[in-house]
Amino acid sequence: MELFLDTASLDEIREAAKWGVVSGITTNPTLMAREGDVDFAATIKTICDIIDGPISAEVVSMKAADMIEEGRVISTWHPNVVVKIPMTADGLEAIKTLSREKIRINTTLIFTANQALLAAKAGAYIVSPFIGRLDDISEDGMQVIRDIIQIYNNYGITTKVLAASIRHPRHITESAKAGAHIATMPISVLKQAMKHPLTDIGLERFLKDWEKYQQAQTSKEPAAVKKAGAVRGTVRA
Ligand code: E4P
Repeated sequence: MELFLDTASLDEIREAAKWGVVSGITTNPTLMAREGDVDFAATIKTICDIIDGPISAEVVSMKAADMIEEGRVISTWHPNVVVKIPMTADGLEAIKTLSREKIRINTTLIFTANQALLAAKAGAYIVSPFIGRLDDISEDGMQVIRDIIQIYNNYGITTKVLAASIRHPRHITESAKAGAHIATMPISVLKQAMKHPLTDIGLERFLKDWEKYQQAQTSKEPAAVKKAGAVRGTVRA
């Protein structure tokens, strides 16, 4: 399963890029707005320079014709750009047209397996089921991922399933077990996934033991030097 970062923050993307585990980025209008007074196109182009993988940028139009126009413009920003289109009737119409023009589409705001089936049929390259938002309203987000994977497998559908709205590391594990192709997450969740208390305790113990070992070596050293000197003296005598 590929790991994407769900952010428009260049600082976060640069930080995560160093770890070698992030292979794509998802943004949305909320994430862009969080960055304040930045240019949308320029930000997406810079992200494409940092991460060599699919970079999702979302349209904000509601009507199919406008989405198509906006999607065409966004797709020219960089060959790695994937145009994000919401799961609506107009969205499906836009997906159909743009996918036939070989523009890759990530269908966003997916909450049911049926929506994922429809998006795939219209020509989506990626579907993004929002598992955290389903969990937030006491529904089972992971079950939607499992259902989509099963349906896609049943019919050989090649659209990629991207587990979105990831809230904690358990979501990453469960998405991978379910066979999701991609999981996108905030950098905080990626950092949490690196950690375990036993790793910290283990490392602390290793370092303390290494310190003891070094102290023992240092205290042994003069005796060894003395001994070597004595041996040399004996030989000379
Ligand atoms: C995915 O592409 C979305 O940007 C994102 O995962 C939404 O997550 P949220 O529910 O935390 O806003």
